[in-house]
Amino acid sequence: MAPTPVILDVDPGHDDALALMLACGAPELEVRAVTTVAGNVPLGKTTRNALRVLALIGRGDVPVGVGAEAPLARPLHTAENIHGESGLDGPELAEPTFAPDGRGAVRLMADLVEASAEPITLVPTGPLTNVATFLEEHPRLKNNISRIVLMGGSMGLGNTTPAAEFNVYVDPEAARIVFESGLPITMVGLDVTHEAGAGPEAIERLRALGPVGEVAAELVTFFAGTYRKVYGSDAPPIHDAVAVAAVVEPGILKTRPMRVEIECESQLTRGETICDLHGIWSRPPNAEVALELDREAFFEVLYRSLGELVA
Ligand code: RIB
Ligand code: CA
Repeated sequence: MAPTPVILDVDPGHDDALALMLACGAPELEVRAVTTVAGNVPLGKTTRNALRVLALIGRGDVPVGVGAEAPLARPLHTAENIHGESGLDGPELAEPTFAPDGRGAVRLMADLVEASAEPITLVPTGPLTNVATFLEEHPRLKNNISRIVLMGGSMGLGNTTPAAEFNVYVDPEAARIVFESGLPITMVGLDVTHEAGAGPEAIERLRALGPVGEVAAELVTFFAGTYRKVYGSDAPPIHDAVAVAAVVEPGILKTRPMRVEIECESQLTRGETICDLHGIWSRPPNAEVALELDREAFFEVLYRSLGELVA
């Protein structure tokens, strides 16, 4: 099978960093580009972090497009309490050895999608600002997008407010544009990513993978510390890596088609993804929503993919 071409849209972020490593290590994927968005930390830092991770794993060949520094219609909300001031606190990472692509995120996405001989899968793991802007500015290129497999949303409780998951909370207007795009969407929400908690055993498995695994283990160790403080849990969920792993091996998820609407008006529940599990609204489904994760299979994809990387 030819590898699946993907573009990752990220806001590193510890779990984005592991998602980037997984994507670059997995032989089933061909990473055509990485685009950066403001989210966990401001854009300059998410971009620096994406470049540092790619430099660490020797992937300076992957073009990095710098995207939106703020949501479409709201001030930026960040998560230094989880990811630290740099957005990748924990291990010492060398400064980037290459510069971002001069075209910016949306132009880079458009050029690569237009030029691709086969449809591209978009894998956003941050706020959906860049993807929404791309879809709005280049609607005719939708026909060369195979699917959007996004980490975001929740059928149940949120993690940023009781109602909203971080990525959708930060830019609900962008999320609404993406979910109304008509493109095939797989929503990898907190319902399944909370099954991907990386505890001490996972950290040791990562550490045993060699130099890149050691950095991943240090990232998760830091992530575990802040996660424990904020959420009282010892095993931080590697949210974003689940979305990438689901492209590598779709069978790790059990999904169901349903209508998903995004709350943009309410002060109280802004960013909530309302998932019509039972079809009460009788509206056509607009997403495959992940209901269950095969946790063991996910971690095997993670370890196997990172094991392919050399620092
Ligand atoms: O809610 C978790 C998501 O928000 C993850 O993508 C994390 O990196 C943050 O972006
Ligand atoms: Ca993220």
